Amino acid sequence: MRILAITNQKGGVGKTTTCVNLAASLAATKRRVLLIDLDPQGNATTGSGIEKTTLKNTIYHVLIGQKTFKEVIQTSEKGKFDIAPANRELAGAEVELVNEIARETKLKHAFVELGDSYDYVLIDCPPALNLITVNALTAAHAVMIPMQCEYYALEGLSDLVNTIKKVRAHLNPGLEIEGLLRTLFDNRNMLAQQVSADLSQHFGDKVYRTVIPRNVRLAEAPSFGVPVLFYDKASKGAKAYLALAGEIISRAKRAAKSATV
Ligand SMILES: Nc1ncnc2c1ncn2[C@@H]1O[C@H](COP(=O)(O)OP(=O)(O)O)[C@@H](O)[C@H]1O
Ligand SMILES: [Mg+2]
Repeated sequence: MRILAITNQKGGVGKTTTCVNLAASLAATKRRVLLIDLDPQGNATTGSGIEKTTLKNTIYHVLIGQKTFKEVIQTSEKGKFDIAPANRELAGAEVELVNEIARETKLKHAFVELGDSYDYVLIDCPPALNLITVNALTAAHAVMIPMQCEYYALEGLSDLVNTIKKVRAHLNPGLEIEGLLRTLFDNRNMLAQQVSADLSQHFGDKVYRTVIPRNVRLAEAPSFGVPVLFYDKASKGAKAYLALAGEIISRAKRAAKSATV
């Protein structure tokens, strides 16, 4: 089971879009996938075809220890992946956990129940470096950072990298940066090309080869409650997320190989 936290404290960079579409793409290659919605906005929940306002059991209840994952997990019918949904109630967890012992490790401990039921767990983080995000970083094996190639992107990245370093030092020594994903990419934009080149220079092969283009189909699919694969599978957006799933799987195979030699 590989647990990836999809994180960037900036909103609107494509975290949720990446979670939903990567979950569906990995599921399409027969991987068992659990998507965890850890954003009170619940966009990953809605985007997976689940009505968030009427939910009785959500990830909030898992975090505060009232429910087990089994009681909370649903299946995205179209997407063929499981999801631990969220809604606005999750915002309360931030306050409720503040005085708890081991408040940063709630999610990590809840994962024990899952054993090896999934190949990939993707965690959709909120746009903040708060306690909820720290729970995700503490529970994860690695972080995937979606980012838009614009001027302030690199600045925001250093705050995130500092948080990752702190989590490594105190809570999760094995936490890796799995990769940086260029999203909402517009090849005709000179600044985007420049920032993209800077990124590759700085982070080398941590930057995924796959680039997610700006594609209106990706923005439209959530209003139908389906991943883009089930809305327009021939779209550039659908192909890009399938390619990303392929890249992640081949990276994992390579890592496994080099670990055995
Ligand atoms: N590659 C893309 N092309 C077009 N629109 C996108 C793309 N990625 C995300 N969007 C749209 O941009 C907005 C923000 O994306 P979202 O995934 O919700 O970001 P985040 O979760 O980081 O806040 C949403 O309306 C989404 O539909
Ligand atoms: Mg989001």
